[in-house]
Amino acid sequence: MRLILLGPPGAGKGTQAKRLEERFGIAQISTGDMLRAEVKSGSEIGREAKAIMESGALVPDAIITAMLAKRVQQADCARGFILDGFPRTVPQAEALDVMLRENGMALGHVIELAVDDAALVDRIAGRFTCGKCGAGYHDSFKPTAKPGICDACGSTEFVRRADDKAETVGARLDAYHRQTAPLLPYYAAQGKLKQVDGMAEMDEVTRQVVAVLEGASP
Ligand code: AP5
Repeated sequence: MRLILLGPPGAGKGTQAKRLEERFGIAQISTGDMLRAEVKSGSEIGREAKAIMESGALVPDAIITAMLAKRVQQADCARGFILDGFPRTVPQAEALDVMLRENGMALGHVIELAVDDAALVDRIAGRFTCGKCGAGYHDSFKPTAKPGICDACGSTEFVRRADDKAETVGARLDAYHRQTAPLLPYYAAQGKLKQVDGMAEMDEVTRQVVAVLEGASP
């Protein structure tokens, strides 16, 4: 199973990708997480990407496609993968088509998480993750069960992303509408695009995505 989750920042791609990874035993590939790991390690890619990410703009296609080409060759991708945050431009989608063809792979579905821009700032501004195990939370929509303690590992350290400030979210949404939204007609033309209601409650979004993947109507 190989699929793309498509949607603006805060649409719930990461949330749903983690659930699908667990349910279907396929790898979540988040180019945002990969870039944040590069920034943290201080690598050449990380140094180049840091300022771009903090401004809300997109990292150059050549860097991303090279990173992804290596990632899909890894053993945990053999059973399939969920692309979360890639492709984000038409040249990235074209590069992915070539990459899949060269590796004898096919793409199943492209699932758009449809959301209203107005809801996204709240979703992003309230997001935080466990600094130890990476479990994701939200101040209002998914708080920890006990205040200040990670449900998954008990850690008391939490982090918020540098690009989750309200002023940067506007630039990220703008990049989505200008550079990523053209992928919707691109994949519709390939007959692969399905839409689910990303404004629904998290479990309902999961139900709709799974229904698409299992061939039932959402
Ligand atoms: P990336 O890390 O991919 O960020 P993004 O696309 O902006 O998406 P987010 O991670 O912000 O949101 P999400 O859709 O995963 O939502 P989440 O599930 O967390 O990219 C970061 C940057 O890296 C880019 O700006 C760019 O610079 C660079 N980059 C990455 N890939 C690139 C590429 N291919 N090309 C070029 N540059 C690239 O949910 C958000 C919050 O809402 C959470 O708190 C969650 O709990 C909550 N939530 C989720 N679903 C629901 C729901 N149904 N109801 C209520 N709350 C919900």
